[in-house]
Amino acid sequence: MSVKLAVIGVGNRTGKYLRYFSLHPDAVELAAVVEPDPVRREACRKQFSLPEDRCFSSSDAFFESFREPCDGVIIGSPDRFHHTQALKSIERGWHILLEKPVAQSYGQCVEIAGAARHRGVKVGVCYVLRFMSLYRKVKELLESGAIGRVTGVSHQEFVGIDRMLHTFVRGYWNRAETTAPSFVSKCCHDVDMLLWTTGAKIKDVQSAGSLAWYRPENAPEGSTDRCIDCPVERDCSYSAVDMYLRRGVWTRNFTVPEGKTLTEVLEEQMRTGRFGRCAFRCDNDVADRQLVTLTAADGILLTIEMNALTRREGRETVFAGTRGEMVVAGQVIEVRDRTGSLIQVQDFSQEASLPYHANADLLLVEDFIGAVAAPDRLPAVTLEDSLESHRICFLAG
Ligand SMILES: NC(=O)c1ccc[n+]([C@@H]2O[C@H](COP(=O)([O-])OP(=O)(O)OC[C@H]3O[C@@H](n4cnc5c(N)ncnc54)[C@H](O)[C@@H]3O)[C@@H](O)[C@H]2O)c1
Repeated sequence: MSVKLAVIGVGNRTGKYLRYFSLHPDAVELAAVVEPDPVRREACRKQFSLPEDRCFSSSDAFFESFREPCDGVIIGSPDRFHHTQALKSIERGWHILLEKPVAQSYGQCVEIAGAARHRGVKVGVCYVLRFMSLYRKVKELLESGAIGRVTGVSHQEFVGIDRMLHTFVRGYWNRAETTAPSFVSKCCHDVDMLLWTTGAKIKDVQSAGSLAWYRPENAPEGSTDRCIDCPVERDCSYSAVDMYLRRGVWTRNFTVPEGKTLTEVLEEQMRTGRFGRCAFRCDNDVADRQLVTLTAADGILLTIEMNALTRREGRETVFAGTRGEMVVAGQVIEVRDRTGSLIQVQDFSQEASLPYHANADLLLVEDFIGAVAAPDRLPAVTLEDSLESHRICFLAG
């Protein structure tokens, strides 16, 4: 029998999860969709041939009036709605697949977990790294003693300038109050991955970070509020015109209403939208660089750097151990002994080129559906599992 799930917020993330619904109609059925954007809602309605009365423009209307059979929900709305929508779903007894960060404070995360426990509802968290073969292998190698006991970890996450601009400077994750601090948004699943792979129990969190670069005082001389009419735009590495119109990066995230073209949507953004603003004159307040040091109970240090000041992108982790060391750079794992001799290489580059986060997004949904269908099974990453990484990230701020 197929599982019936409703989807709250049909954007970039849930659009990917819905791919699983299309591929496996025998396993999962879309019970309802909640999406305020009429273009996205209509596209989803058409794609799944949903009747109008199962399509909602607000979650309030959905929770008040939806009475059809439903086993669970996928919550992929903006962060600030997760807490209320999760609590309301729990009240209805619906299992939840919840996007990260699961809420806007650690207290809210704990509240959702408590309510779910009380109501007997399963909550899975979209910590996609845990579903990637690369990190599953890292965990397996560490647990098998490939480098002995872990003595220290250094992890770097390079956000990349384009992602920083699109998401954390001009975009919707640019203010802690309306979303979360950037370290929480960007690194909560990195912290989770480090705790999960090493088993470290953290007793102290130190953090330093700020918004140092994307500030008005660093705007190029002669620049103006909008890149489209800025006289120094051609010489600026942060130009929105260059990014969206010339290079065409990050453009898939814009919704194109019927009767318009993507170019028209982008040009409108350049003239009046948030994405056409000078990168140094936005309303952003989240950090562009943060260094966090975690001290584990046994004294080992785990350092995590979030860096959005370079064009480098991706993650690099160095695990030091009593018998050797392991470097995870991009999609490649290298294990060396204490003399530095290469012991083994595991290359996941081919798998990483697969869509949907190297297929991990689809595995994540499959896992959740399996947990909803089986009374005695929990999702692979429960909300309880994610509490410690959320606690650490909110402490680091
Ligand atoms: N797991 C990951 O790797 C990962 C990556 C990126 C983002 N995220 C998280 O996923 C969530 C969604 O991010 P996204 O990139 O898909 O954003 P998005 O903006 O593409 O999608 C969010 C959707 O929610 C809709 N929405 C707005 N207000 C709503 C409301 N009150 N109720 C229901 N829907 C509403 C928007 O119209 C939009 O379609 C966020 O919490 C984000 O932090 C997770």
